[in-house]
Amino acid sequence: MPSATALAHPNIALIKYWGKRDEDDNLPAVGSLSVTLDALRTRTTVSFEPGLGRDELTLNGVVAAAEHPRLTRCLDALRALAQCNDHARVDSENDFPTGAGLASSASGYAALTVAGAAALGIDVRDSRLEAVARIGSGSAPRSLHGGFVLLENTATGTRCEPLLAPADWPLHVVVAVTSESGKSTSSRDGMADSRRTSPYYEPWVASHAADLAQGRQLVRARDFAGLAQLAEHNCLKMHAVMLTTRPPLVYWLPVTLACIEVIGALRRDGVPVFYTIDAGPQVKAVCLPEAADTVAAALRQVPGVLRLLTGGLGTGARIVDGNG
Ligand code: PMV
Repeated sequence: MPSATALAHPNIALIKYWGKRDEDDNLPAVGSLSVTLDALRTRTTVSFEPGLGRDELTLNGVVAAAEHPRLTRCLDALRALAQCNDHARVDSENDFPTGAGLASSASGYAALTVAGAAALGIDVRDSRLEAVARIGSGSAPRSLHGGFVLLENTATGTRCEPLLAPADWPLHVVVAVTSESGKSTSSRDGMADSRRTSPYYEPWVASHAADLAQGRQLVRARDFAGLAQLAEHNCLKMHAVMLTTRPPLVYWLPVTLACIEVIGALRRDGVPVFYTIDAGPQVKAVCLPEAADTVAAALRQVPGVLRLLTGGLGTGARIVDGNG
């Protein structure tokens, strides 16, 4: 029975994507620039089994009650590449909260894609796998790669360009977990609502290419101060779109804002740190390695911070076990 296991890490965008230019193909409206984390991890085993009536998913030890259309679409894309008709059993585990703004969909679909490809004998470095991962989640192709990753729109799809390896600029990320519950509105639904209703959606898309180009330059130059300003601006611009969506997408909690204030005060005191926040209340503090202990100590004291997850930058999705 062809089976393989892969590990993948979530990634966090410093220049965000929010909105789709094609919902069917899950094509993002804008590019993005991310860092892959090493602290958090998804481990997924995919086994193709002749005679299985449908694809089956077990997530964090719980068997999914219904079919999972996005999962099946990813597996269909892999089956088409390998000309295989068998359904698959997928067993996936996250060592961090699922669906709470910690990019579990990115690591989940990256691990699924790599494990499924390896099980079917597809070269896991095949660039077509980026499009397979993207079917599951717009941010998943970035987790196929390590370090700093640029995801660009092309005429017909998207393309990832790894910019720097983790060792080239070993930033640290301290995640302040402020809630363990899942988000109320999925990114996918939220993006569709924003595109339809936010008066800031079009300016967000129109001003994005400049942010992405500048982000790429700042990363290449390893310009922390410049990247700090740009990443916070880009993050707040995305949340301005979210807040002005109808119905509004308020992903923040009071503690989210408290963390923003603490990080701002640290930076004014000369500590090299900035924040970014996705579709959830968690705050990700990105800092130079020498500042990690100071940043963690400050965030730990913020009332409402449940726990911290800290680490450096990680590698791309990879196979850990497989029996062909
Ligand atoms: O991974 P998706 O397609 O569910 O959406 C990710 C959206 C953000 O995390 C808010 C931004 C990003 O670029 O990661």
